Amino acid sequence: MIVLKDIRYVRIGTSDMDNAVRFATRILGLEVESQDRRATYLRSDARDHTLVYLDAPAEDHTIGFDLVSLKELETAAAELENAGFPVHAGTTAECEQRRVKAFVSFREPSGTTIDLVAQPWHSGRAHAPSRMAGITGFSHVGLYTNAPARDQEFWTAVLSARVSDWIGEAPLLRIDEVHHKIALFPANRHGVQHINHQVESIDDIMRSYYFLREQGVRIRFGPGRHPTSGAMFLYFEGPDGMTYEYSTGVRLIKEESDYAPRQFPFRSSSFCMWGSTPDIPEFKT
Ligand SMILES: [Fe+2]
Repeated sequence: MIVLKDIRYVRIGTSDMDNAVRFATRILGLEVESQDRRATYLRSDARDHTLVYLDAPAEDHTIGFDLVSLKELETAAAELENAGFPVHAGTTAECEQRRVKAFVSFREPSGTTIDLVAQPWHSGRAHAPSRMAGITGFSHVGLYTNAPARDQEFWTAVLSARVSDWIGEAPLLRIDEVHHKIALFPANRHGVQHINHQVESIDDIMRSYYFLREQGVRIRFGPGRHPTSGAMFLYFEGPDGMTYEYSTGVRLIKEESDYAPRQFPFRSSSFCMWGSTPDIPEFKT
């Protein structure tokens, strides 16, 4: 079994780098760590970076997960090959671009590229936000799946994720004590469906709600509260049509043995217990 420690980064292509960086800094509130000809690295917490915009097609999405050691990475690569998922071992230049000691990449069953990384760079300093959005760190991603039951089996059996809850066919998966770090939403495509950053409190959610509206950013869902994770949330649209989320107050599942996943029906109230209705295709019922 491969044990994922945390999500390390999301790398996404953009058709307009300047616009994407403007959004990340002036709207979202991230810090530019560095920029080169092809990429902008953005920070949201104490790590070197958690989000990268690439000068690449907007549908190019990669999620990086860190493993605890180089040894585990070696074992994971062999396990993936055995399970029928060919891996590519990162070259020195590719490792440098990802700021990791080593990584392997492969495609999960729906087709999204996953990097497993070992010894990613740490920064040694706190995040200096470009806007006081209250971000405490990058937290989770929604992914598209074209076969939710098959992909749930892959994520749980091969990558050791656990189901926390389902909304309709969509499993919300945890890899640590946070209620979910990955959620799989049925669609006829693959890649990242939304990108989540945690904020300090409900005050940050509400402040951003008014700020984003004033800035003309399209609000896609919320403010609201998920009945599954208990988190209060706000979803809004970023560059290239990507959905971004701020949330706070997510449930922690500390005792694995005390917890059983719950089935929520596929309806609006399973996404928001306050009555907000989503303007996000995969959440629309
Ligand atoms: Fe989310």
